[in-house]
Amino acid sequence: MANRVVEKIKKGLRGELVIPGDKSVSHRSVMFSALGDTPVRITNFLPSADCLSTVGVMRSLGAKVEILSPTELVVTGNGLHGLKEPETVLDAGNSGTTLRLMMGMLAPQDFVSVFTGDSSLHKRPMGRVIKPLSQMGANIVGRAGNTKLPITVVPAGKKLQGFTYDMPVASAQVKSAILLAGLFAEGTTTVVEPYQSRNHTELMLESFGVKLDYEGTAISIQAQDKLTAPEEILVPGDISSAAFWLVAASVIPDSELLLKNVGINPTRTGILDVLNAMGADITLTNERSSGSEPVADILVRSASLHGTSFGADIMPRLVDEIPAITVAAMFAEGETVITGAGELRVKETDRIQAISDQFNKLCSCITATEDGLIIKGGSQNQWRQGTCFSYDDHRIAMTLAIAGMAGNGVEIEQPDCVDISYPSFYEEMAGLY
Ligand code: S3P
Repeated sequence: MANRVVEKIKKGLRGELVIPGDKSVSHRSVMFSALGDTPVRITNFLPSADCLSTVGVMRSLGAKVEILSPTELVVTGNGLHGLKEPETVLDAGNSGTTLRLMMGMLAPQDFVSVFTGDSSLHKRPMGRVIKPLSQMGANIVGRAGNTKLPITVVPAGKKLQGFTYDMPVASAQVKSAILLAGLFAEGTTTVVEPYQSRNHTELMLESFGVKLDYEGTAISIQAQDKLTAPEEILVPGDISSAAFWLVAASVIPDSELLLKNVGINPTRTGILDVLNAMGADITLTNERSSGSEPVADILVRSASLHGTSFGADIMPRLVDEIPAITVAAMFAEGETVITGAGELRVKETDRIQAISDQFNKLCSCITATEDGLIIKGGSQNQWRQGTCFSYDDHRIAMTLAIAGMAGNGVEIEQPDCVDISYPSFYEEMAGLY
């Protein structure tokens, strides 16, 4: 894989970008449609490597997935109780969402399924899903004391039992896995989160006719006989992809960029709150609905940013945007202190370590802490050129790219991993020069 050189840009970012489909919603659109028994047309699907891992897994389980164009699919399932025993190992690739949600969907089934994934996914903690599912009666066996891939889901031998799970960390993947298992379990299944994580599973299940009960931070689900699939699912643009342009246009002088069709579900808009607190110039226009999700066009202009502090309470609303926010902080006047971000250490790579090791090559301004980052920003920062490693982590690669674009250039080692969530990223970037 060749390195990629990103030059410093010598003008402002101007024009419009259409933001590709949301990764979390794309995964769920295919998974849930495969539990219905009528065709669902999915539009603005994100054709990224992660979402295609989900397509592969659902096909192995008997769902029919027709790919009409890269962003348009028709998925037809065999009904809620119609999943088929897979004849091959289910490969989740790099995708934690595919693996964790599918463990929840497959734990109640009366057939064996075996999961694998790439080397990054083999290192990530799966005990957080296996443990609560086992408490419901599931029989899941994994390496390293039932915590890591490869993982085998064995039939439980009886119906899973609904229960109440107080989640130690806010995680939409864990929450979703338990709710999916709850679709098949006896009695009521309840999850309680310390802070609300993204609610795409809840919104989409409701659009499939499932009634959820909410009480404070608790969400409850009952077993269902069937799901009633909608005819169409329109995937909103991914704010986690828009994040790179929100930051780049904020810090590159003379920018005025319109980001079109961005999902603004309040469980995902933490980055807008943080950038606004830093003094960003961001305007939401044309607010509307895209199926069950709210979207808007976002106009972002360059601004003088200042440092800020934030922590655990907002983290689930921006957890994937911390790398991009770090770049905003590197350009802001004063210090930014991020706490409560320990989850970053178990993402596609240890992002706290990756950010501090690689970004300090470009500008010595970052201190890693156990659960966060301290970033010294400001015009006194001397931006250097450097060769930086992506760790094959898509969000680290894209963050390095915008840092090089806004700073003093960068050469990225292992740049192609952007395919995991934003295959057209470098093409969009080239169009801005
Ligand atoms: C996701 C949930 C988050 C997020 C990930 C996608 C989802 O992970 O980081 O990129 O689609 O449910 P956690 O549940 O581990 O916080």
